Amino acid sequence: MIRSRITRVERQTPTVVTLFFQWEKTVLPGQFIMVWAPGVGEVPMSLSHIQGEKGITIKSYGPTTEAIIKNKEGEYLFFRGPYGKPFTQTQGKRLIIGGGSGMAALRPLIHKESYGIISARNKSEILFSSLFSPGKATIMTDDGTAGKKGFPVDALKEMDLYPFDMIYVCGPEVMLNSVFQYIKNMGLKAEFSLERMMKCGIGVCDSCSISGFQLCKDGPVFQLNIMKNMEEFGVWKLTESGKRVKI
Ligand code: FES
Repeated sequence: MIRSRITRVERQTPTVVTLFFQWEKTVLPGQFIMVWAPGVGEVPMSLSHIQGEKGITIKSYGPTTEAIIKNKEGEYLFFRGPYGKPFTQTQGKRLIIGGGSGMAALRPLIHKESYGIISARNKSEILFSSLFSPGKATIMTDDGTAGKKGFPVDALKEMDLYPFDMIYVCGPEVMLNSVFQYIKNMGLKAEFSLERMMKCGIGVCDSCSISGFQLCKDGPVFQLNIMKNMEEFGVWKLTESGKRVKI
């Protein structure tokens, strides 16, 4: 277990904060760490900042994330890693599609030539849109309070996707699945960062399994062609007790 002092805390949206910490380790875009909240639990978190100062951008969705998000500057962050397969980095034209706090894992891939489709529930929950060059991001909100009302797949339907050399996607599985279904037979190159409950993070417990793949070791980033073999994707997931439930 690594222990690092939190150097600063930056609020991104009313429900999302970034915790920065010092860690002299090479981390690649899409890789994750297992963050431990003493006495509460451990959760996987992709790094949102990987150059110099490291950072995790976190939204509370349960007791462990709730405990981690309450950390203050000067307190310790406990974690282990980095784990998992990263995104493949292409030099060509990138399309980055992020839903909600899924933008955190995609943030290290944004450069000035990248084009983004950023979706959120509402205007106040849009993450990292200012990192895209002017005119290079489409905002989609569920309630229409910013950008266009709708979902990333609605934006995709209005775009020519063939100029893009790579499409990177991260967000809620329902959103990932709608993007996947739309582009899967177009002959495009795309990678998706998936989410599943993780216990060990190192390929031992199988809690993160999806159609025979272990998310922590074989993923969390998967190429579109691999995902065509995942019949559980977008349909089933395992709960903490190991029960298979519909998504
Ligand atoms: S989290 Fe244990 S095998 Fe992936």
